[in-house]
Amino acid sequence: MTETKIDIRELNLWYGSFLALKNVNLSVPPRLITALIGPSGCGKSTLLRALNRMNDLIPGVRITGTVLLDGENIYGGALRVDRLRKRVGMVFQRPNPFPLSIFDNVVYGLKVAGVHNRGILRDTAEKCLRGAWLWDNVKDKLHHDALELPLDQQQRLCVARLLAVEPEVILMDEPCSALDPIATAKIEELMAVLKKDYTIVIVTHNMQQAARVSDFSGCMLLGEMIEFNDTQTMFTHPGDKRTEDYITGRYG
Ligand SMILES: Nc1ncnc2c1ncn2[C@@H]1O[C@H](COP(=O)(O)OP(=O)(O)OP(=O)(O)O)[C@@H](O)[C@H]1O
Ligand SMILES: [Mg+2]
Repeated sequence: MTETKIDIRELNLWYGSFLALKNVNLSVPPRLITALIGPSGCGKSTLLRALNRMNDLIPGVRITGTVLLDGENIYGGALRVDRLRKRVGMVFQRPNPFPLSIFDNVVYGLKVAGVHNRGILRDTAEKCLRGAWLWDNVKDKLHHDALELPLDQQQRLCVARLLAVEPEVILMDEPCSALDPIATAKIEELMAVLKKDYTIVIVTHNMQQAARVSDFSGCMLLGEMIEFNDTQTMFTHPGDKRTEDYITGRYG
């Protein structure tokens, strides 16, 4: 038995009358990378968003089942959503830095939490920018507008901004889809470093990327988790014909 960081049990999610997640079960191991793959519309983003309750704001969404974070049900009512989102942070498809300086982006969460000590803010900014492998690129222009950075650096800035609030889990929804191959390689290298300290769940359409970066993979189809396995096995000996069809490009 491997340890479990997030345990998804019998999760169903409806958008109105449409059942988008069908009895999904999945154990996400700690400090490894888990990839969610499957054809467009199969529910990958919905499942990812369920892990930090980002679907809650969508009108008409109804959820049954449990998502246990370190054994505690995030839908159980005891864990406040703002606390949950600090522990389980998200990086989106398009980098979304705030229209602020690079520095202010990184320390944003700290300032919101009431930290204004300049020394602490500076040290945190450096630590997190180093953690996101961005320090050398930006150390001489910390007060420049974040939106002037190239896209992959903006994406790494979003990672740095997450690291500043000390999450345990990082959710990434196609974090490289707006990036060229060189920038993608940089984000993938960063993920490999981050997984030493963080549990990462990534949605990707790129089979090569899933095979390269992830330790475990879950393949979804029409709202169901049809196969979950270690990535090596999934890509060499898929247990389900539908997984094989998807990863060999027969659909999706
Ligand atoms: N806000 C919403 N309201 C209604 N239906 C939605 C909503 N968001 C997603 N859906 C539907 O739920 C299903 C799963 O969508 P989701 O975005 O999770 O899929 P996905 O696997 O991430 O797809 P893609 O690979 O295209 O990003 C789709 O049929 C989609 O149309
Ligand atoms: Mg999606």
